[in-house]
Amino acid sequence: MKILGIETSCDETAICLIETEEVLSKTKINILGNKLYSQIAIHKEYGGVFPILAKREHQKNLIPLLIACLEEAGLFSPLLIQGEGLGVRCEEAKIKITALLNREAELLHEFLDKVLSIKNPGIDVIAVTNGPGLEPALWVGVNFAKALGYLWNIPVIPTNHMEGHIVISLLSPSLDKEGARGWLIKQFELSNISYPAISLLISGGHTQLVLVKDFLNYEIIGNTRDDAAGEAFDKVARILGLPYPGGPEISKLAQKERDEFPNKITNYPLPRPMIHSKDLDFSFSGLKTAVLYTTQKISELTPAIKQEIAKEFEDAVIDVLISKTKMALEKYGAQTLILGGGVTANSELRHRFTNEAQKNNWQIFIPEISASTDNALMIALAGYLNFKNKQKTDPDFVAKGNLSL
Ligand code: KG4
Ligand code: ZN
Repeated sequence: MKILGIETSCDETAICLIETEEVLSKTKINILGNKLYSQIAIHKEYGGVFPILAKREHQKNLIPLLIACLEEAGLFSPLLIQGEGLGVRCEEAKIKITALLNREAELLHEFLDKVLSIKNPGIDVIAVTNGPGLEPALWVGVNFAKALGYLWNIPVIPTNHMEGHIVISLLSPSLDKEGARGWLIKQFELSNISYPAISLLISGGHTQLVLVKDFLNYEIIGNTRDDAAGEAFDKVARILGLPYPGGPEISKLAQKERDEFPNKITNYPLPRPMIHSKDLDFSFSGLKTAVLYTTQKISELTPAIKQEIAKEFEDAVIDVLISKTKMALEKYGAQTLILGGGVTANSELRHRFTNEAQKNNWQIFIPEISASTDNALMIALAGYLNFKNKQKTDPDFVAKGNLSL
């Protein structure tokens, strides 16, 4: 089965085409085409994502990415006559597509011009992120997916972005005949896991502990009370004068500090917020304020001091995340841990969670670094699993900025 994934929840426009096969109760996944356009450079000057700009950029990028994705998959063929094959449906299709994309004028124009001139690529299902995220950005993807679904007469599955971050961690590369790893050959299978499992989701908008009771069956058991982990990285980076997005910048500085001064006791100790609280919630805004107060007391924020603070901040976040995750695993008698979300790209975090898993005998799943941050493969995969499970969906679904698992 061929599934097209579409992701526009924040500042990445992404499209991915996968082909799935069920073999001896294993789900095999082949990536046929995978394209992503990051808007980071555009949002950098605002120090964060600017929703109206994100909406405009998604409109601009979706069709070029779709064409590039189909080309990569070998499924792109232009039609000589626009709308060829639609017959009498062509005029009706134009009317319906105009209605679906009436709030995305720029995209509508390109859709009528370019997409009606592409031969139907034979895709079976479309999966699109319908939340959580920035609502204006989400709507672009949702309406685009519905227009494609109408044109190609195939179902469109609303997909939860956070579920995407969970399931992508469960992909393990298949080995080819020479034993090469699948991230190069683009072939994967879905790992079997034992339930209950705990998922720690850490991204720009979320910090959540999720009890995965069974396949696609979730309960949120811990949440941030204020800033998300990724948001804290981004805000602290801004305080230290580092560019957006701050996570990778902080991570680089912290690593430099670790390499240069492996055993140093920090001159700038920071709190570990809520580490001793009995619940599974988080709070990172006080930590960010502590960094602010620390920097205000320093007359000159030299590169050496910045890297020392970056390391202490990173350690503080990771200490809290590990402590709460451990509590969750113990409380629910779980042995399986699934990490997901953009902050899992952090190398120190990956290293410390992997060590902790070894010590405690947990089965741990962490996404490949390139799949940690937002992408459309995770949406195609989550959409497929839901489609396989439920088979039907409400065609009038909407985009929901605060969609929950
Ligand atoms: O999942 P994601 O790509 O988007 C959302 O769904 O929010 O996560 C983005 C977040 C940003 O806050 C970014 O700073 C953070 O992930 N991030 C990192 C790293 N790479 C990305 N945080 C810490 N260390 C990193 N290496
Ligand atoms: Zn995300």
